[in-house]
Amino acid sequence: MVMTQSTDSPPSPFNLKTYLGDRQPRIEAALDAAVTLAYPETIYEAMRYSLLAGGKRLRPILCLATCDLMGGHEAQAMPTACALEMIHTMSLIHDDLPAMDNDDYRRGKLTNHKVYGEDVAILAGDALLTYAFEHIARHTQAVPADRVLRVVADLARAVGAEGLVGGQIVDLASEGDDSVTVETLNYIHTHKTGALLEISVTSGAILAGADDGAVATLSGYARRIGLAFQIVDDVLDITATSEELGKSAGKDLQAQKATYPSFWGIEESRRQAQQLVDEAKAAVQPLGAGSEPLLALADYIVARTH
Ligand code: IPE
Ligand code: IPE
Ligand code: MG
Ligand code: MG
Ligand code: MG
Repeated sequence: MVMTQSTDSPPSPFNLKTYLGDRQPRIEAALDAAVTLAYPETIYEAMRYSLLAGGKRLRPILCLATCDLMGGHEAQAMPTACALEMIHTMSLIHDDLPAMDNDDYRRGKLTNHKVYGEDVAILAGDALLTYAFEHIARHTQAVPADRVLRVVADLARAVGAEGLVGGQIVDLASEGDDSVTVETLNYIHTHKTGALLEISVTSGAILAGADDGAVATLSGYARRIGLAFQIVDDVLDITATSEELGKSAGKDLQAQKATYPSFWGIEESRRQAQQLVDEAKAAVQPLGAGSEPLLALADYIVARTH
């Protein structure tokens, strides 16, 4: 017997695996096409080595999701989605340097400086960071220039001394300091990780032409998942294996980093991350049915094992 679906049957439940399986390959292809080999090959090889090494691609996924939610189409957001991953990759290459966290493995492979040397790794990060902005400016399609300009300005602020760089500086300065306050810990997490996640969420909406109210609603969601994301990263550094993480586990304790578990313990850190995710999901309720991907991505952030 042939089963036909009646037109008034309920919509099938949202499936994050299918959603990611659909988008991740398109992001991989766009990243591959964005940075191609040219002279001087060493720098392009080093950029591609880390950029195309896998990773969850959470930041581009969030950017495409909010563009879609706000009625935009993928071509409007894909260059920004790729730029977010280029900047994130820069932050990982530099974070792993001996002068910072001194890590040998990332995304299941040797770190950039272990393969190419510190000089090339620093320059590969610089090149990814600057190219990210060029890529947005040159390749964004069908978006009025004022929206593109706003994304460029907001992104630059999120990555600079007011954002990621500020968080990294305080993270490094707090190593081994047992007088770090909870305010300082929150500053570190919301800046080194939260700021780039927030612009990942808001940029897609801005490119799609969302109004200020919707962008503010999405910011509320993003700030909560951003903090939850770094709390879970801190917990996984203790509870997961290096194989699961694709990077060396147990490094935060060794380096005496200021982390959520070092303040609150593992169980309470997990509880706080879950609470932030619940709040993030509540924050996007006003956006209606199209926000399922954002709800599922928030759940994924606390449930993830790598
Ligand atoms: C790792 O980020 C660095 C942090 C901000 C905690 P991700 O956990 O998103 O790393 P990839 O991109 O999946 O490798
Ligand atoms: C990373 O924080 C934040 C940035 C890279 C900006 P971590 O140092 O905790 O990230 P991992 O654990 O090395 O991925
Ligand atoms: Mg670090
Ligand atoms: Mg690190
Ligand atoms: Mg970490």
